[in-house]
Amino acid sequence: MDRNVLTEMCLEQLKLSGVHEGEKVIVLSQGDERLDYADAFLAAGQRLGARMYHMRLPAPLPTTGAWAVGETGLAANPNAVNALKQADMVVDLIFLLFSEEQMAIQAAGTRILTAVEPAPLLARLMPTRQLRERVEIGAEFLKKAKTMRITSKHGTDVVYKLGVYPTMSEYGYTDEPGRWDHWPAAFVFSGGADDGVDGQIVLAPGDVLLPFNMYVREPVIYTIEKGFIRDIRGGLEAELIKSYMATFNDPRGFGMSHVGWGLDHRANWHGLTDFGGGMGMELRSFYGNVMFSTGPNNELGGPNDTACHLDIPMRNCSLFLDDEPMVLDGNIAVKEMQHTFK
Ligand SMILES: [Fe+2]
Repeated sequence: MDRNVLTEMCLEQLKLSGVHEGEKVIVLSQGDERLDYADAFLAAGQRLGARMYHMRLPAPLPTTGAWAVGETGLAANPNAVNALKQADMVVDLIFLLFSEEQMAIQAAGTRILTAVEPAPLLARLMPTRQLRERVEIGAEFLKKAKTMRITSKHGTDVVYKLGVYPTMSEYGYTDEPGRWDHWPAAFVFSGGADDGVDGQIVLAPGDVLLPFNMYVREPVIYTIEKGFIRDIRGGLEAELIKSYMATFNDPRGFGMSHVGWGLDHRANWHGLTDFGGGMGMELRSFYGNVMFSTGPNNELGGPNDTACHLDIPMRNCSLFLDDEPMVLDGNIAVKEMQHTFK
């Protein structure tokens, strides 16, 4: 992408994120990844009068190849973490999510914006205040609910007991101290009580497996009891899921993680055909998707910090909060949360 265009996008992002004169903003990168983003953010922040600098960590050494959530190059570097805690805002070009270091930086009051997706996607799903409003309306509904029930024509019928864990929203920018967000994003989520998820989830063809970055072709049937997956059945995808989960050798990987729905009318369900190698934020955000996930709940303050994490956005589901529909057959059911399609 043209560097001037990228700088303008980062300027818009930093304005939405409330960056102003005199603020201290650190751009965090590693190796030679996304150095063009780092330059663009530095130039944009400078134009807003912020005190900018770039913290660049070495490229990580090769690992076993599995995507290791929550392991970052900061873990062995407390001085670097301390510097990040002193900033008003950190622009994370590494993907720190689920790391202890990220939590410590947020706890110090530093807000964090992650930007790792391909630049054309950042451009197409530029955050807006209107989208934030619709996401926050969703979060208000979710905050008040005691139960969430998800159903589908394919046989999904699962109930999450809510109220234990906080509700989170992601809308692609962050202007509040200590708050994290991810550009691009537009969804709300919470988590069920540790022993409070029961039922069956049936993945249908076209549902999305992240981080595999692939679409389901044959149904996958999850049986869930007391917050844990007891059984996974189906065809090829079920075997791939089981094989992947087994590599973590961690029974907590079968716990139930965050759950919620997406609200970005500009995000495409077929997004993986455009950006097969990204983080899948477009898939997490597409309008009317219901996303459940498996594994850790430490992001919500829970005890499960397993590294085995799958996010699974599903199409054409219905989602009810205390019997009130939020999503019906893949469409947003609450007027204030809806986008008006022309
Ligand atoms: Fe997730």
